[in-house]
Amino acid sequence: MHLQSTKRLANGVEMPWFGLGVYKMTDRDETIAAITQALQVGYRAVDTAALYYNEAEVGEAIRHSGVPREEIFVTTKVWNSDQGYDNTLRAFETSLKKLDMDYIDLYLTHWPVADKFVDTYRAIERLYDEKLIRVPGVSNHHQHHLEQLLGKANIAPVVNQIEVHPYLSQQSLRAFCEEHNIAVTAWSPLGRGGVLTDETILALATKYGKTPAQIVLRWHLQHNILVIPKSVTPHRIKENAQIFDFELTNQDMQTLDALNQNKRFGKNPDNFKFDF
Ligand SMILES: NC(=O)c1ccc[n+]([C@@H]2O[C@H](COP(=O)([O-])OP(=O)(O)OC[C@H]3O[C@@H](n4cnc5c(N)ncnc54)[C@H](OP(=O)(O)O)[C@@H]3O)[C@@H](O)[C@H]2O)c1
Repeated sequence: MHLQSTKRLANGVEMPWFGLGVYKMTDRDETIAAITQALQVGYRAVDTAALYYNEAEVGEAIRHSGVPREEIFVTTKVWNSDQGYDNTLRAFETSLKKLDMDYIDLYLTHWPVADKFVDTYRAIERLYDEKLIRVPGVSNHHQHHLEQLLGKANIAPVVNQIEVHPYLSQQSLRAFCEEHNIAVTAWSPLGRGGVLTDETILALATKYGKTPAQIVLRWHLQHNILVIPKSVTPHRIKENAQIFDFELTNQDMQTLDALNQNKRFGKNPDNFKFDF
């Protein structure tokens, strides 16, 4: 496995295991510099969202990178205030224009807005039928949200992007996704940096001669979880990608699993306030 290795998704599309998250990249030049450097280092996936207000910068950095568009896997998401069938189709048009692209690789419902997420996903299915997206997916869906969709969808969501890190291992939701051939991408794979001072993780970092972030990202990969760590810091963009030259033992994987405390750094989809 290497930085550009891909996972074959349920619909046959190849998705890079590793990508750059761009949430909270609000400074135009810094955003373009981070994506440009990531692509130079060898990243081949970028995860944005309408909410991040940087789709235009993502498109610009990709166009100027010299890497062909079709070699880069671009994810974006429909924001909560734009959900429902017609609104989602309109929101998609806006995202496509901002990115200045002909298609998007993966389009996600950002959060399961009650009473709307099923219609939102129906619109995503239509975009897939029209070949405007290569992969239909969702984010922040618990098992009960997925069950509702699976009961109605023509094409099951191919990806569920959820918060996962050693303090929130999401074992049962991951097992449900695996059973239904839904790939799991971890958002906040580093717990927004909040797990990197954990003593157990620091000890493993010393043992392997790696950094805490590398230990955590490797734990995700060995659990078949796709990752999209965010950084605007040049040495970290490089560091985070250097996880393909070592392997955690089964025992150390279990030690990391035991750190789970069901602790969220983000919101719980079941009590998220959707009204903004
Ligand atoms: N679907 C959703 O609802 C959802 C929600 C949240 C996030 N996401 C996606 O997931 C991506 C990643 O999540 P995230 O941005 O919340 O958190 P994250 O990737 O877990 O952590 C990012 C934070 O960790 C720092 N960091 C990165 N690499 C590091 C390293 N090697 N050593 C020490 N610190 C490091 C970054 O700082 P610097 O940038 O200053 O280096 C930043 O403060 C987002 O960018 C976004 O694309 C999706």
